[in-house]
Amino acid sequence: MGLAQIVYTSQPFAFDEATLGNLLVIARRNNTRDDISGALICRRDIFVQMLEGPEAALEATFGRIARDDRHLNITRHLVRPVTRRMFGQWSMLHDPAQSWLWPEAAVRDGVPVGVDGAAICEVFRMLAIQAKSDQVKPDQD
Ligand SMILES: Cc1cc2nc3c(=O)[nH]c(=O)nc-3n(C[C@H](O)[C@H](O)[C@H](O)COP(=O)(O)O)c2cc1C
Repeated sequence: MGLAQIVYTSQPFAFDEATLGNLLVIARRNNTRDDISGALICRRDIFVQMLEGPEAALEATFGRIARDDRHLNITRHLVRPVTRRMFGQWSMLHDPAQSWLWPEAAVRDGVPVGVDGAAICEVFRMLAIQAKSDQVKPDQD
């Protein structure tokens, strides 16, 4: 089955470390089972997630995530077939508070105007390069 990537953003409903910790444990457990990899950029004002894996598993995972009431305004920016994964080493890489990403004022209604799926993929591409050079472990928070 074909490999694909999905990128979406959402707004955390109530951002706290305990919720986030639980979420990552479940995400990593499920993703290992389902052959899904990816990364989650977490800020108190926005989640930006890349999910990658076999198409059917990817849609099933995104379907569950989209129904999750721990976040709002789930917006899918991109889905594309790929030949290689960006985050093959991580069932879900956690990337806290990317202050260099977008200013908080610009994120009030989701991603800033003019930012599209390709631009977000570029952010993840940089993140993957950084995580590989930092040798971030599969389940490191
Ligand atoms: C921002 C965010 C990211 C999530 N990422 C994943 C994920 O990568 N994989 C996953 O299975 N669930 C993820 N979840 C959790 C799902 O929404 C859902 O709670 C979970 O898949 C249900 O798993 P369970 O049926 O095994 O309890 C995420 C939830 C949120 C709010």
